[in-house]
Amino acid sequence: MIRVLKIGGSILTDKSREFAPREEEITRVAKEIAIHPDDVVLVHGAGSFGHIPAKKYGLPHVFNRQGLRVTHSCVARLCEMVVLALSHAGVDCLPVHPLSCLHLRGGRIDSFFMDPIEEMLKNGIMPVLHGDVAMDATGKAAIVSGDQLVAYIAKSLQADVVAIGSNVDGVLFSGRPLSRITRKELSRVESAIGGSEGVDVTGGMRGKLLELLDLADLGIESMIFNAGIKGNITRALKGEYVGTRIERDK
Ligand SMILES: Nc1ncnc2c1ncn2[C@@H]1O[C@H](COP(=O)(O)OP(=O)(O)OP(=O)(O)O)[C@@H](O)[C@H]1O
Ligand SMILES: [Mg+2]
Repeated sequence: MIRVLKIGGSILTDKSREFAPREEEITRVAKEIAIHPDDVVLVHGAGSFGHIPAKKYGLPHVFNRQGLRVTHSCVARLCEMVVLALSHAGVDCLPVHPLSCLHLRGGRIDSFFMDPIEEMLKNGIMPVLHGDVAMDATGKAAIVSGDQLVAYIAKSLQADVVAIGSNVDGVLFSGRPLSRITRKELSRVESAIGGSEGVDVTGGMRGKLLELLDLADLGIESMIFNAGIKGNITRALKGEYVGTRIERDK
């Protein structure tokens, strides 16, 4: 059972301040993942390690070589922290940096060398990816969000469980999480779905939902849940729905 899990940068970092890891949360998340670590591809968000430098250098709208280098090394540092926490929790894992294995076209993944990820899974190693900067055939360079990575990988591996954890209880409408949402229902609730309270260059909740609705159109359903609540990650990995289900129109 292939599972693609994203843990939002909103959980792992304080998105209002640069380089602000939440170390206790990183440790807790790693311990929860360690309960069901088999066949999991982990993607983590960039949080303040990515969104803040990206914004500072004007990425992805401005092509800035220094901005690309600085932003990538910051997110790679956060990835290293996640990998370390996972290994302390007993999970065999390896970092996979999207910048080095995929190519964008107009901000969307055009090619992605997935073979190492598949090989890691076959050999009991959890691949750990993250939101990153990436080269782009049309715009020179851009940003690939963790949310886009989840949708692409889930499609490519035909994942059985797809779960995106953030700092809210799901897709909120009138202050409450929707239990489910489909593309047809989007227009009814769209005005309530916005970006992020923190700094986020990839569209916050709206960006996340649009990626997952595209995935649902292909027949792969998913969930958005609160990874800040103890126990939710473990439940999500078991395939239990703990937030908003993103479903295909029947
Ligand atoms: N209708 C909505 N329901 C839920 N969250 C919403 C809604 N509209 C806007 N948001 C915002 O979206 C945020 C979640 O997206 P955000 O991109 O900040 O987190 P993340 O994806 O976990 O972090 P990262 O991008 O670093 O991985 C919420 O904290 C909330 O502020
Ligand atoms: Mg985000």
